[in-house]
Amino acid sequence: MKRIFIFLFASLLSFKAMADEGMWLLMFLGKNYEQMKKQGLKLKAEDIYNVNKASLKDAIVQLRNNGRGFCTGEIISKEGLVLTNHHCAYDAIQSHSSPENDRLTNGFWAKNKSEELANEGLEVSILVRMEDVTARVLKELNDNMTERERTKKANEILAQIKKETEEAEKAKGNINYEATVTTFFGGNEYYMLVHEIFKDIRLVGAPHESIGKFGGDTDNWMWPRHTGDFSMLRIYANKNNKPADYSKDNVPFKPRHHLPISLGGIKEGDFSMVMGFPGRTDRFLTSYGVDQVISTINPSRVKLRDKRLQTWKEDMDKSTDIRIRYASKYASIANYWKYFQGEAMILKRLNTAAQKKTLENSFQKWADADATRKTKYGNVLTDLEKGYTARGKYLIPREYLNEGLVAPEIVTFSAQSMALLAALDANSEPDIKKAADNFKAALSDHFKDYNMSTDQKVMANLYEIYINDVPNEFQPAAVKEAKTKYGSMAKFAEELFKQSIFGDKAKLEAFLAKPTKEVLANDMALKLFQNIRKTAMSYPSDFAEGLDKNNRLFIAGVREMDTKKFYYPNANSTIRLTYGKVGSYTARDAVKYNFFTTLDGVMEKEDNTNPEFVVPKQLRAIYEKKDFGRYAENGTIPLAFITNNDITGGNSGSPVINAKGEIIGCAFDGNWEAMSGNIAFEPNLQRCICVDIRYVLFTIEKVGGAKNLIDEMTIVNEKKGK
Ligand code: ARG
Repeated sequence: MKRIFIFLFASLLSFKAMADEGMWLLMFLGKNYEQMKKQGLKLKAEDIYNVNKASLKDAIVQLRNNGRGFCTGEIISKEGLVLTNHHCAYDAIQSHSSPENDRLTNGFWAKNKSEELANEGLEVSILVRMEDVTARVLKELNDNMTERERTKKANEILAQIKKETEEAEKAKGNINYEATVTTFFGGNEYYMLVHEIFKDIRLVGAPHESIGKFGGDTDNWMWPRHTGDFSMLRIYANKNNKPADYSKDNVPFKPRHHLPISLGGIKEGDFSMVMGFPGRTDRFLTSYGVDQVISTINPSRVKLRDKRLQTWKEDMDKSTDIRIRYASKYASIANYWKYFQGEAMILKRLNTAAQKKTLENSFQKWADADATRKTKYGNVLTDLEKGYTARGKYLIPREYLNEGLVAPEIVTFSAQSMALLAALDANSEPDIKKAADNFKAALSDHFKDYNMSTDQKVMANLYEIYINDVPNEFQPAAVKEAKTKYGSMAKFAEELFKQSIFGDKAKLEAFLAKPTKEVLANDMALKLFQNIRKTAMSYPSDFAEGLDKNNRLFIAGVREMDTKKFYYPNANSTIRLTYGKVGSYTARDAVKYNFFTTLDGVMEKEDNTNPEFVVPKQLRAIYEKKDFGRYAENGTIPLAFITNNDITGGNSGSPVINAKGEIIGCAFDGNWEAMSGNIAFEPNLQRCICVDIRYVLFTIEKVGGAKNLIDEMTIVNEKKGK
């Protein structure tokens, strides 16, 4: 599950943790250890997380794009080879594709290291250690502070800790260490995580898109699944094995640990654990929050995304060039377009709000039963309800702004010239030159994946919906005026794209060669952006007293209610471990799903007239010859399997690890029946969908012909005599 980037209101939380539920912090694994052992784990706790010696954590990486984490990967060779999902490297694969050399469609395998492809902005981070800094932060906070003051103070201390730590590391020669100091449990606790950041990450290989994305949006978020959702990267370092910017002189990174690969297969009930970087969960969300997700937030997003996707697709279907340019953007918008529909539908079906109400009722009873508690927690729920009501009015304006007004790429792209505008305003030659140069550097990247007429249609279509659905009082003046002046948003978009310098690379380059304030200050796209921004800032964004404060108290109270229970904090892109087992499930009345799929299922779904279900000829031929090598089981290739591990977006690409610390699969999705999972874990329904490591190796070796990669892996538990 790739992590979603979207502005979301901070809100929270959960109820009773089952054995399988929980995204646990590595630093506190000691608390889970006995249970993990009982469930089958054969490792010692320090084999998983150890600051001083090589442990599993050293093989787990977060993939980041210019500092923003989005997926997980794992190191599977002593030469820094990384396995992740196909959809995690999709953007990188696409950026190395063109109509002439369409690596996205045809797949790509480097046959030696010199063929591996560099990726600007792609980074990985590896956890060095973590620390609890709660006491140091809480010491500076008190109950007389408003929530705003509290957050401000806490952030100051967190920044201070970050600075101290990074400086101390630098003094020791660890120049690429980064400290993340952040809040857990909604502001009740604070931990620091120190990571080492690598910046030369190369693309090593990917299967055909019709393997890596087999089933497309139709099968997305669903089980049974037949997607070979994997790809390979490699971490490069300098000669001293330290992080370095890209250089042809860099060499493959030698990790402290890499995961051995198990060809031993899996059985129902086998112990499994997943380590990775889940992005965000809301397990402590109250019933009021659930209601808003169902009634307003998700339907707004879906409606606008529907139109954006449809507009893109019309043009993508007409031209290979546009299809490649928009492939990655399309996939990521479509991924959560389907997610938001599923989430709202399943929250309703499972009546998650009622589950939450039950917890809220016991919370209220517990709070009221004691005078001190009553003072502290007695009004938390009523205040939360009030906070949600106050926020409610701004949900549509906000969602429509995020998913509508700033959806045309020209709007956000023009915003990148704000520094230049400021420099022109100040009439400062060196600043003007610097800002213009910076902006120039961003041009190729942007225009490479851009088509102006497509973007113009997006504006025309989405702004028309916006004008109709958003109450007048919340609309930016520029948008209201456009409607009056031009009559239709299509006409407005036409004028804007004609006038603006930001839709056309040549026009923009000509401007940047000799930037003037008149042109920039009067650019229609930039003016529109500024007006949208001003409007956005006029909406109250601060529901801190109502929501943040009471969420924090609610979480504190829930934990205090049951002190025997281990709670885990909501996901926040920090590394977690979840453990459970391989297992089937009953999806609905009379429908029980087996826990694994095989290559036979790909052939059953094959439909070469439907781009989502094409089977590459090579794969078909190998299947017919049954050229499965050592990867077969019962005469076919095991393809995907499910576990009850607790994962979410950001965990995409995480290793699925057996009781002995060997990799058996790579996690890539969640299932439809439990799409409410970010808000409440559903023990009977929720599954983690994983590609079987044997399908990964089979595809690399037999379809991709990249035996060179297999040879650098550490393969264990191979069944002999076959
Ligand atoms: N649902 C998967 C996730 O979020 C992404 C799958 C990508 N495939 C696709 N058809 N969009 O991680």
